[in-house]
Amino acid sequence: MFIIVLGAAGQLGTEIVKCLKNTKDIVRDFEHEDLDVTDPDAAGKTLSTLKPDCVINCTAYNRVDDASANNETATKINFTAVENLAKICSNINSIFVHFSTDYVFNGKKGEPYAETDIPAPVNSYGISKLLGENSVAKNIFSHYVIRTSGVYGRGGSRQKGGNFIEAIIRKSKVQPELKVVNDQTVCPTYAKDLAETACKLIRTDRFGLYHITNSGACTWYEFACAIVDIARLNCKVTPITSAEYPQIALRPKYSVLANNNLAKAGIAPMRHWKEALAEYLQVASSE
Ligand SMILES: NC(=O)c1ccc[n+]([C@@H]2O[C@H](COP(=O)([O-])OP(=O)(O)OC[C@H]3O[C@@H](n4cnc5c(N)ncnc54)[C@H](OP(=O)(O)O)[C@@H]3O)[C@@H](O)[C@H]2O)c1
Repeated sequence: MFIIVLGAAGQLGTEIVKCLKNTKDIVRDFEHEDLDVTDPDAAGKTLSTLKPDCVINCTAYNRVDDASANNETATKINFTAVENLAKICSNINSIFVHFSTDYVFNGKKGEPYAETDIPAPVNSYGISKLLGENSVAKNIFSHYVIRTSGVYGRGGSRQKGGNFIEAIIRKSKVQPELKVVNDQTVCPTYAKDLAETACKLIRTDRFGLYHITNSGACTWYEFACAIVDIARLNCKVTPITSAEYPQIALRPKYSVLANNNLAKAGIAPMRHWKEALAEYLQVASSE
């Protein structure tokens, strides 16, 4: 396949490109400065000229707390641009792969969300991502929309100023105690694992909506404890409530995703989040 990766310098984009470069696929990667997806003419011209078999969109506006104040920008990147890309891909007969988030759910279910559950986002970021995923389903048959959660990868997200793991490591070096919220349950997902599984899925022709995360679930506090433990950091981690750590945007209390459709597609579940974290930290320490 001839595959174009958009947002190729992000946490996930980097891993997708790495994964595809080990295959027989022809890969062309576009970073933000190469192609701004919010420019419809540039996107249309580039994709219609190159006519790829598949476009993998790893771009996103990801700053959850800033999405409300920057709603216009968030909506442009997470919805309008996505709708445009889906339409272009449909016109040029390309498969379109897009990523979304556990934050399309309100977290009130209290057990893992299936792909069949009805989304009800509680913040502007989640709303913009839901608009994006709906526009894909509406505008192109040959699509994969992949919802994931708590993504971390090498180098972190530039717009987020890193990732959760790097923040814990950095802060542990200057603070004897870290207070971390213990009432938001997610499934942290290693970008490398997600990329490998997504690259298998896009060859199945089983188009549709997928939840893909590492296995298991934890609160951010439990995740922080595991980071401190595995990386042998000298720091105390104390659990707090979301009320004790006010953030601009509301977060779902429980947004674990059941990877049901992945199993139906015959693809093995991803390893446990703790195993993935251990590998990430081991690679990071050897760099
Ligand atoms: N990170 C998470 O915790 C998380 C959780 C759930 C779902 N997801 C979803 O997973 C996907 C991948 O996220 P990620 O963590 O890999 O994000 P990321 O590291 O922040 O990467 C996003 C990429 O998009 C690029 N980008 C932003 N605006 C663009 C534009 N207008 N045109 C072209 N490129 C643009 C960014 O480039 P610049 O940095 O140069 O602007 C960046 O390289 C996204 O769909 C995200 O919503 C992420």
